[in-house]
Amino acid sequence: MSLIGTAVDRVDGDLKATGRAPYTADVTLPGMTHAVLVLSTIACGRISAIDHLDASRMPGVLAVMTHLNAPRLPEGGNAIGPPAGRRLTLLQDDRVHYNRQPIAVVVAATLDQAAAAATRVKVTYEAGTARLRFDAGRRGAHAPPDVLGEATDSMRGSFSAAMPEAAAVVATYTTPMEHHNPMEPHATVAQWQDGRLTLYDTTQYISGCQSAVAEVLGLRADHVRVVCPYVGGGFGCKGSTWSHVPLAALAAREVGRPVKLVLERPQMFGPVGGRPQTEQRVSAAADVDGRLSCLQHDSLSHTSGLEDFTEPAAMQTRIMYACPNVKTTHRLVTLDVGTPTFQRAPGHATGMFALESALDELAYKLDLDPVELRRRNEPPQDPDKQLPWSSRAMLQCYESGAKAFGWAQRSAAPGSMHAGRELVGLGFAAATYPALRSPASATARLTADGMVVVQSGTHDLGTGMYTVMTQIAAETLGLPMNRVRFELGDSCFPAAPVSGGSQSTASVAPAVQAAAAALREELHSLAVGDEPIASVMKRIHGRELVAEASVRPGDEKRRHSMHSFGAVFVEVRVDRDLGVIRVPRVVARYGVGRLLNPKTGRSQLIGGVVWGLGMALMEESVLDPRDGRIVNGNLAEYHVPTNADVGVIDVDVVAENDAVINPLGARGIGEIGITGVAAAVANAVYHATGRRIRDLPITLDKLLA
Ligand code: MOS
Repeated sequence: MSLIGTAVDRVDGDLKATGRAPYTADVTLPGMTHAVLVLSTIACGRISAIDHLDASRMPGVLAVMTHLNAPRLPEGGNAIGPPAGRRLTLLQDDRVHYNRQPIAVVVAATLDQAAAAATRVKVTYEAGTARLRFDAGRRGAHAPPDVLGEATDSMRGSFSAAMPEAAAVVATYTTPMEHHNPMEPHATVAQWQDGRLTLYDTTQYISGCQSAVAEVLGLRADHVRVVCPYVGGGFGCKGSTWSHVPLAALAAREVGRPVKLVLERPQMFGPVGGRPQTEQRVSAAADVDGRLSCLQHDSLSHTSGLEDFTEPAAMQTRIMYACPNVKTTHRLVTLDVGTPTFQRAPGHATGMFALESALDELAYKLDLDPVELRRRNEPPQDPDKQLPWSSRAMLQCYESGAKAFGWAQRSAAPGSMHAGRELVGLGFAAATYPALRSPASATARLTADGMVVVQSGTHDLGTGMYTVMTQIAAETLGLPMNRVRFELGDSCFPAAPVSGGSQSTASVAPAVQAAAAALREELHSLAVGDEPIASVMKRIHGRELVAEASVRPGDEKRRHSMHSFGAVFVEVRVDRDLGVIRVPRVVARYGVGRLLNPKTGRSQLIGGVVWGLGMALMEESVLDPRDGRIVNGNLAEYHVPTNADVGVIDVDVVAENDAVINPLGARGIGEIGITGVAAAVANAVYHATGRRIRDLPITLDKLLA
């Protein structure tokens, strides 16, 4: 029986399709009340007066919490330090740091009552001069101390010697501020019982939420329980605990009843992160054979006045290509906006747009096929750390993708392919994302009713953790899937890492496998002769058995460089008069190690590509330079691709054996799908039109200008 690697259906598919999967906002508790946030309307300054009397007298209102009456917290509410900790704004003082900062919480018996009362809170501000122009901040840009634990800047080789150079590109690429828009907005339900707090919270990190809230409120961690069985999309914004979560807990304590707080869609544009704006300068030069002689990538991104978040946009440039002279830098421009954060493929989504656009420009200057240019610069090992790859299937991806796409039929000259009144463009870009793994634990228990229940404190962001972990446990135990139930999303379960950085499967799968194997051993020890496990289970019916496993990566990270790679081929059609861009076809091939479930796995990669199309052509948060408000902070004006925008997407993985990452050979796939797509679209638009657009999103006004 082989379940691992099989395209089995989602075990939670039925629950989701019928609306019975309980998301946070579906939680209803006896006596539950509703909270609504009041958010600031200036970017920087102080609250000189806040009048909540009107609001307090509205029907059903139980409390209006402002900085004047909110409970004082240890260390001003900022007890948590980085990396899990964010600088939160918890009604501890009169300062406003960004537009849409929480400045009051209204609690009422019903949601409508709370929403109505929230409009009656009158706020007077003393506005300061806000920093809201990226351009103006460029000269005062600062270097963060590190970027995700790696060096802020890197340098290998030298830039002083004369370079052998047949062609060179120096260009600046810009990407806009963007915001996460999972279908499910952030939501929290807080309940206190005997001084202990239960939080139903939509989060990618139950144990992080548990420790953050405990520290902020001055509680013991084991007095905070966080429950989250379903997440309706995360993409990074739910990886950190933001201000609304402790505020919901404080409000619940204040009114002595459970409180539900669900963010409204516009409230997703400010207080809960987003992708920072970037300006990336790339220089690339190559010799006559197309071998890179030097590569420089300088990334500038915005952060907030509260804390530094660095978009790691130049990271991949250290490892993508064999090149003797490479320099990368990361700098930050401080703006008075909500702190940006990790957003799907942080750094690599933005950075690969710049790097892979520049490589395309270089290929045209060399009169060399863009795929061939990459092939000639394939690094045999990690050129930055000088370590062997755990596995790198880049060449296979180029080959298999080019073949499936029909790349050979492309005529090289820009503007040379047409279909009726439309210009046809075929573009290519590489994809990459690091392969992370963290310690994780799981238990496997034979229950009295003859089921095996496997538990781990991980999350299912909608991607398939329930299904894939069930497959692994069932196969390890030699049982059918319907005899195994996988449970996640409770801080009482054995610990698992944040479901971010594409690491959940790579981290939790080995723990589930080890726990299931330990239970199998226990069952084997009870077997009579060569009795099969199912018979042992029948014979010992009614007896409970538990096995636990904790697994952690060894020192493989010091001995190997671990990354996933891919190749993205895009066809665009551009209306020659109107500049309208459509993408009828994408072919992408990835080397991600072993795919544990081709159905959920391909689906996740398709989702990444779709988001890449949005990044390329639509997504942009427009910051009002007068007041720091995102002017298109809603789904009517912040455009994401819908079905009509998405053509045929053909994704697949190439066969790859990674013996290093973990015993299953599985690397994560959550983020690589978005990487490279925006560059492939931009490169295809250039091929169609001869117009190089270096500023995302590529909207028709830029083509017509
Ligand atoms: Mo991902 S941006 O690390 O959730």
